Amino acid sequence: MTVTVTLPHTSYDIIIKRGALKKVASHLPLDRRVLIVTDDGVPSHYAASVEASSRYPTVVTLPQGEDTKSLENFGYLLTVMLEHGFTRGDCVVAVGGGVIGDLSGFVAASYMRGIDFYNIPTTLLSEVDSSIGGKTAINLGGIKNPVGAFYQPKRVLIDPDVLKTLPSRQISSGLAECIKMALTSDRELFEFLEDCPDPLNALDEIIYRSLLIKKAVVEEDEKESGLRKVLNFGHTLGHAIESEYHTHGLFHGECVALGMLPMVSDTIRQRLLALYRKLSLPTSVSFDRNAAAIALKHDKKSGKDSVTAVLVDTVGQFRFEKLSIDTLIRKLDYFTQ
Ligand SMILES: NC(=O)c1ccc[n+]([C@@H]2O[C@H](COP(=O)([O-])OP(=O)(O)OC[C@H]3O[C@@H](n4cnc5c(N)ncnc54)[C@H](O)[C@@H]3O)[C@@H](O)[C@H]2O)c1
Repeated sequence: MTVTVTLPHTSYDIIIKRGALKKVASHLPLDRRVLIVTDDGVPSHYAASVEASSRYPTVVTLPQGEDTKSLENFGYLLTVMLEHGFTRGDCVVAVGGGVIGDLSGFVAASYMRGIDFYNIPTTLLSEVDSSIGGKTAINLGGIKNPVGAFYQPKRVLIDPDVLKTLPSRQISSGLAECIKMALTSDRELFEFLEDCPDPLNALDEIIYRSLLIKKAVVEEDEKESGLRKVLNFGHTLGHAIESEYHTHGLFHGECVALGMLPMVSDTIRQRLLALYRKLSLPTSVSFDRNAAAIALKHDKKSGKDSVTAVLVDTVGQFRFEKLSIDTLIRKLDYFTQ
């Protein structure tokens, strides 16, 4: 299956095919210098597949985890490319989850003012969300994603077979982003997730339908000046929780799941909680309210005193509302009541 993302200045294909990674050379032009970036939690044979198919491969394996999206690793990857004589005609291939994709995409955007970038997402979250749409970023000063670029990949290769090695908790974390998209934009997908006895056996369908939502949003608003803010549903509070928790063990999708709870109507919250329980997503969390409030104030989307928040009162629909930082901080009280 191929989904094409069409933007004013570029377009690219997302190829969804089981077994595609084993035939990567037939999907990506690798007859050149190829920087393959992965991390030590991703089974190494995925990057090895790309390495075996590339003419001049350089594989860099970074430590797994959110801290890898750092200025140090950004500089390191650029240095490796320079030392290996990469030119503007060469390319970067990310083989990993959102961490590797966000970092490698920013490296590709920056090297020689931009070289070809290919994304092979290996987590569910990255397959349905982070690999599409061109948002690249690194973390800085304890804040998530304040530095980055909009830089679209040349192609995205989704091989759902790689999810066989992904721990089930990571699958659930990715499903949180699918719930986010369904809740705001696709009532049928939300009901499908609710009714499906075993969503793990329906991942191809869930990936495809989530991708269609993300594609539609990105095509309408590539640079997040309006509609694309809907994809931040759950993220403003989620990031505040995550800023405290990424070192303590909650995954990104789990934080987003929690971040959605105070932003929906009471009726929807009951349905969400039931879905979270089915998918083994967290339904509550305890955290340092003051630390989370500080993180909220630093959130890059905060502007000055208010944030464009996404709220859902009806499944499949959303509304934007400007909320003051103080109102958002009060929403965190949902978790402490
Ligand atoms: N750019 C965007 O639009 C966007 C959107 C959403 C999230 N993000 C970013 O994505 C990041 C989170 O991404 P993530 O949830 O993919 O986390 P991740 O990249 O940290 O991957 C999660 C873990 O799974 C391991 N892993 C990856 N693939 C595997 C596989 N197939 N088998 C076994 N283990 C595997 C990794 O080593 C890692 O330990 C965050 O930094 C977030 O900010 C970006």
